[in-house]
Amino acid sequence: MEIFSTVADIREWARQGRGAGHAISLVPTMGALHAGHASLIRAARDSRGLAAVSIFVNPTQFGPHEDYARYPRSFDADCALAEAEGADAVFAPPVEELYPGGATSPIATFVDVEGLSNRLDGASRPGHFRGVATVVAKLLIATEADRAFFGQKDAAQVAVLRRMVTDLRLPAEILVCPIVREPDGLALSSRNLYLSPAERSQALALSRAVRQTETLVSSGERHAVVLIEAAQKIFAAERSSFAAEPQVRIDYIELVNWATLEPVETAAPGSLFAVAAWVGATRLIDNTILG
Ligand code: PAF
Repeated sequence: MEIFSTVADIREWARQGRGAGHAISLVPTMGALHAGHASLIRAARDSRGLAAVSIFVNPTQFGPHEDYARYPRSFDADCALAEAEGADAVFAPPVEELYPGGATSPIATFVDVEGLSNRLDGASRPGHFRGVATVVAKLLIATEADRAFFGQKDAAQVAVLRRMVTDLRLPAEILVCPIVREPDGLALSSRNLYLSPAERSQALALSRAVRQTETLVSSGERHAVVLIEAAQKIFAAERSSFAAEPQVRIDYIELVNWATLEPVETAAPGSLFAVAAWVGATRLIDNTILG
């Protein structure tokens, strides 16, 4: 596995690969790789061609009071995992390589998917999806990737990126892999590392709410109001059973059209039921795409 830190070098690697007849698959990550990322790398590897993993903690997708500085960084372990899962290259640029004018420069180029970027996580994290769209556009252009792999856990991010790729006519396909969960249901996330044992236990409210929604829908319930209220009750029960402990606080529970992220009143095949909640100081998300 080769490791590159400049756009010129990863692009040269990708062009040589394409010249030899290989398609290029990209797995964009911010590092702190876990089994969820491993599943994306395996999917990229199994899609034939060459698989590159980018490792870049993107400053522009963090708000001023968010966890950019303390976001977990574990470069050597990440490279070992990427190699073990069959990646052919890692692209790990320094900030100034992707943001030559500085990430906070008053003169800089950003990609903003209007409308979608203010929905779900974008509503509570202003500027987040603008930062995500900008960095993923830069990564796709740098690697000239044919396809890029993302986890369904970040379903709203996927909607934003699909729209961006369509609108910019980028020649990359956005592919989505299923959420990977702990045995007790918690969706894997690099931010799970922040959770204390008590918070870890309360965090299960998210996956319980998601599982309950799947059960209700498979038994015929379709009304957004009913599904959302039932999920809210799971959080309320969690809060009352841990009265003396850090509280779990709902950020949003929504049933939306996955492409537009607009709320829908009735669940239809492909609707996205998404949950975000604060568990202590950690914000977690989970979702299900209804069948
Ligand atoms: O999902 C993530 O880890 C990040 O948002 C991404 C897509 C790597 C962009 O920084």
